[in-house]
Parts: sequence; structure tokens; C-alpha cells
Amino acid sequence: MSLRGATICGVGSYLPEQILTNADWERMVDTTDEWIVSHTGIRERRLAAQDEASSDLAIPAAQRALEDAGIQPEQIGLVILTTVTPDHFFPATACLVQSAIGATNAGAMDLTSGCTGFIYAMVAGANFIRTGGYDYVLVIASEVLTRTADWADRATCVLFGDGAGATVLGPCEPDQGLLSFALSSHGEHGDLLIMPAGGGRTRVTPEVIAQHQDCLKMEGHDIFKLAVRGIPRIARDALAKAQLKTSDISVVVMHQANQRILDASADRLGIERDRVISTVGKYGNSSAASVPMCLDDVYRRGGLVAGDIVLFVGFGAGFTLGAAVVRWTLPRFGAH
Ligand code: ACO
Repeated sequence: MSLRGATICGVGSYLPEQILTNADWERMVDTTDEWIVSHTGIRERRLAAQDEASSDLAIPAAQRALEDAGIQPEQIGLVILTTVTPDHFFPATACLVQSAIGATNAGAMDLTSGCTGFIYAMVAGANFIRTGGYDYVLVIASEVLTRTADWADRATCVLFGDGAGATVLGPCEPDQGLLSFALSSHGEHGDLLIMPAGGGRTRVTPEVIAQHQDCLKMEGHDIFKLAVRGIPRIARDALAKAQLKTSDISVVVMHQANQRILDASADRLGIERDRVISTVGKYGNSSAASVPMCLDDVYRRGGLVAGDIVLFVGFGAGFTLGAAVVRWTLPRFGAH
């Protein structure tokens, strides 16, 4: 079977209107703007409205990606939505979005891999196209992470934000689009970033709520170390499979958790820091959604041209790591 390529042919994102600044957090927990900026680089983040769930953010992000691609919803064969904050355990949030956008010919599924979710979902979607299963796959990442955060835990609550990003994947020449990928899982570190209750193991009871066990728990220090050690390894693995070097990379679109992680990764990979796109200052950590939100940001600022080599990197709950190397095929935004 001769494989065809798969590429990103449309990008979109959606940000909730309300902005939560560090000054707002100073009024709610024992923290300071100085601490948050110096430890994370975060200045503000978005907060979903009370009646907005992940599907509500995903729908406009998906519509913008479809519009950018010039693709009708009926042409989509599969919707993959990645999130750690689904509307419900079931039905899949992907099904709610599929129906709302009129993707009447599509299958739909959710995929969970923490903050690495978009990398996993993009690789899965691309392979459905490469093997001829579908022509167009919609890959969406959407999160209302502020809803699972513990608003009394200053070590975590100030980090997170809400938002959604989406891409339309379509067929291309074999040497374009997704060139290679590397995925890894380290489940032995699963307890370092976890929402202990609310799943099949521990039901949410008044005692569980009183102990905040239905909220996100993170050992930030340990995750930090796993991230800065793991990112260069997974990135080099993906680059080697594409027979490329770090000097071939045009830009890095990476999970946005902490500016110190972005900078350390650039240094350890030997790439100029300004090639690692940063949106963490204005959006905080929006888990799986951060990579496509960051992609849409650099794309719509005209920062990508056809032929660029884009290195995508994710890391997060699991503990998971993922990297993908893409030869960009869209013209500079606004030029098409
Ligand atoms: N304001 C003021 N002080 C604070 C705050 C706060 N918001 N949070 C913690 N502190 C204090 C701590 O109590 C501690 O005080 P102590 O020294 O008196 O004990 C001190 O600041 C240092 O705390 P650390 O936790 O050691 O701070 P660190 O420099 O490690 O930064 C952070 C914490 C930002 C969480 C960092 O570890 C980090 O970014 N980790 C990685 C997180 C990540 O990448 N997650 C990715 C996946 S996210 C996902 O999948 C949803």
C-alpha cells in the first residue's frame, strides 16, 4: 500500500471573553504578581463563562478551522477531540461538537492524553488520512481547566486557563505535512498529576469534596524535572525519524505550561529561545488546548510559511510525552 501524506490545511481557536489577571488572583489567594511572573511567566489567562463547557469552546474553534481550510463540515470523515475536561464522561464531547457543526458524515471520538493530547490526536488523525480511511479529519483540543483546578491551592490554581484550538487535516504529497512523530508514556508517574476522584475508582461524596479530591493535584517540581529532561529526548527522537537536525527547525510549538520550561527546552535543544513560540503569558496553561491555541496564534500573526519545519511538543498527565515534525504547507496567513 503506498501511503499519501497528511497535512494541516486549516487552523482556528476560540478564547473565552473573561480575562483573569494575576491581580485578580492576588485578591483570592496568598500570591503576588511578582511570584507568578517570575516562576511561570504567566500574566493573565482566560476564564470560561459559567454556562460554557468544553464543547462550547470547541465549536467556534472548529468552525474557524473549517473556514480557514475552505472545507464544508459534511466533508469531514472523523472528529477527534482531546480534553481532560470533557462535558461528561459520556457521550463523548466530540459527538456533541460533530452534531453542532453539522459534520453529518463524520465519526467522532474523544482521546485523552493530558496536556500531550493534541500531539496524540493529530498523529492519530493524520494516520487515518495516510492510510486512506478518510480525506479530512477535524482535530480539536478544548479545555475548561479552571473548573477542575483547586481554587484554594495557590501552587496550582494560578497556572491554568480555558480555551480551545482546532485543525483540519487533509491529504498531501508524502514528503509534506506530518513527517514523523514520537510518543511515550510513563504511567509509573501517573500520581504526579491527577484528579483523584470523580472517575470509576473514587466517587464524588461530600467527604471527597471537603478534601478537594475532586480537583486537579500536581507535584509541580517533579513534573518540571520530567518535562525538561523528557522534551529534548522526545524531540530528538522525532527529528531523527524525519532525518532532520535541530538546525532545520523553523519554529517550535510546544505545550504552554511555564516560560522556564520553554526556555530550558530551547537551551537543551540548542535552538534560539525566540523560535519556541510563547503564549503562556497571556493564556496560562490550558492543557491539551495550549498547543493548537499557540499554533493559531503564530499562524495568524503571519509567522508560518509553506516549507517551514514545525516541531510540535507536548508533555503532561500520564506522564506522557509527544513530538511531531511537520513540513508546513499553508501559505502565510492572509496571503490565501
Ligand atoms: N504564590 C506565592 N508563592 C507560591 C505560590 C504562589 N502562587 N505557589 C507556590 N508558592 C511557594 C511555595 O509554597 C514554596 O514556598 P516555600 O519555599 O516556603 O516552601 C515556593 O513558592 C516554591 O514553590 P515550588 O513549588 O518549589 O515552586 P517552583 O519554582 O517549582 O514553581 C511551578 C512551581 C510553577 C508549579 C513549577 O514547578 C512548574 O511549572 N511545574 C511544571 C508544571 C507543568 O509543567 N505542568 C504540565 C502539565 S499541566 C497538565 O497536564 C494539566
